[in-house]
Amino acid sequence: MDKLRKELSALKVDTILDVATRDGGFAKEMLLGLGGCRKAVALDITDKMFEKGREKCAGLPVEFVVGDACAMDFPDDSFDIVAVANSLHHIPDLEALFREMRRVVKPDGLLIISEMYNDGQPKASLTHWILHDLDCDMHTLDGIYHHPTYSKSQILWMVKNAGFSVDKTLCDLVDDPKVLAKLRERVAAVPENLKKYAGRPEQAAMAAKAAWLQEEYDANGVTSAEQLVIFARK
Ligand SMILES: C[S@@+](CC[C@H](N)C(=O)[O-])C[C@H]1O[C@@H](n2cnc3c(N)ncnc32)[C@H](O)[C@@H]1O
Repeated sequence: MDKLRKELSALKVDTILDVATRDGGFAKEMLLGLGGCRKAVALDITDKMFEKGREKCAGLPVEFVVGDACAMDFPDDSFDIVAVANSLHHIPDLEALFREMRRVVKPDGLLIISEMYNDGQPKASLTHWILHDLDCDMHTLDGIYHHPTYSKSQILWMVKNAGFSVDKTLCDLVDDPKVLAKLRERVAAVPENLKKYAGRPEQAAMAAKAAWLQEEYDANGVTSAEQLVIFARK
């Protein structure tokens, strides 16, 4: 996320909040970009990935906290930056999420969104997007909330509609070799993973999507899907 880091390097902030943090990956990314930030709070509804997160963020001032991003315990106006990455499509009550993020960020503080978008992914990034869309299909059949990704304009509207004013937008992607290796493993695992849904009415559509995935992978390989990154002010 080079472009994100470049933007962050120009900011001077004291405390940041990363909601729906999972293992703190985005909190770490922000701290590395920001430089002298005193504290990051990394909040998730479950602590399942916090142990991994503490390893990942070792040496950085990250505090992991369990909580619901749609009803947070923090007082109003607590943080210089509130961020949410790769998670808008995991949270059903987006109105409550944005209301809470706006409440806890300081007046004139920043909201940062980083979210995979569904319109116009370039070549090898499209492969990741199809893979992700298949994950949404499988999770939905498993009863896990996983909305398909939104378009750039839908994401932008969520931010504006919540009362933020947009300072800047950019598109960026993760180019970590470990992430790319994991994506290749996930593509290879798709045929096996789909077997679980044999006999379900949705199976034919999922098999067709898996064939499209393989076609794109054979033609273009896979790299991370691009994220829309939005910087917006309260
Ligand atoms: C795809 S992961 C987030 C990844 C992480 N932000 C990153 O960029 O590496 C989605 C996360 O949202 C969390 N989540 C879902 N609903 C939530 C809620 N209401 N409040 C806080 N976290 C939530 C899940 O537990 C999961 O860890």
